[in-house]
Parts: sequence; C-alpha cells; structure tokens
Amino acid sequence: MQSLRIHHIGYLVKKIEKAKQTFLALGYLIEQDTVYDDIRKVNICFLTRDGYRVELVSPATEDSVVSGLIKRYKNSPYHICYETDDFEADIARLTDDGFIAIDTPTPAPALGGRDVVFLSNAAIGMLELLRTNHPEQTS
Ligand code: NI
Repeated sequence: MQSLRIHHIGYLVKKIEKAKQTFLALGYLIEQDTVYDDIRKVNICFLTRDGYRVELVSPATEDSVVSGLIKRYKNSPYHICYETDDFEADIARLTDDGFIAIDTPTPAPALGGRDVVFLSNAAIGMLELLRTNHPEQTS
C-alpha cells in the first residue's frame, strides 16, 4: 500500500505533562504543545526527534475515547498513524484486507481538523489513517 506514509507514533500516557518533560529530557522537541480534543476528550501534544514524530495522548475525562485503552496499555505506544492521499480508497482496501474500522472518519482538532479513522487487525492491533492536507481544501 504505497499511498501510506508514516505520520506519527501514538503514545498513550496517564500524565501528559510528566510524559512531555520526560521526552524533552530525552532530546525530543515540542512540535505542537498540548491541545484539548473536545471530540475525543483527550489532551494531545506532538514531539519530534530524528525525523520521528511522537503523539502523546492522555485522557482528560473518565469517559474519554482512551479511558478503556489506558487500563490495558498504561504508558506505552499503541498505534502508528499513516497519512494518505487516498483516504477513502485506503479505508476500503484495509477493510478488504481484514482490518475493521473501530470508529468513523472524524476531524482531529490537534491535526488542523483533518479526518482520521482508527482501524484494527488481530495480528497488529490498531492503526490510524490521516487524510492528507490539501491546501485548497482547508477551511
Ligand atoms: Ni494518532
């Protein structure tokens, strides 16, 4: 699937401020400081190092989208996000290949309102697809 490009590694954390400070001490740089995603009820920030981008995701409320996941994963990576120019077609391809969509495409405030969707597969767990930002489509 050549259209997929790795965009970030999603990292679930209980305390985003402590996690951010720890990544900074490891030499990461803040790409985008913490923002609140009111659709998913999570706090999110992006850090980079050596060409890699890490997304810290932390539940802001008891009923956030990751409140269940964090009990299982605690503080750890939990998804790789792929950016694609072919968003709908890739969802269809992945679904044909045995992935199951676990939500519907929804704007991500922390990513400029671009659509994301999560899919899951028994062999590798969750991945996230992110619609490429076309300048002519930004609102
Ligand atoms: Ni992500």
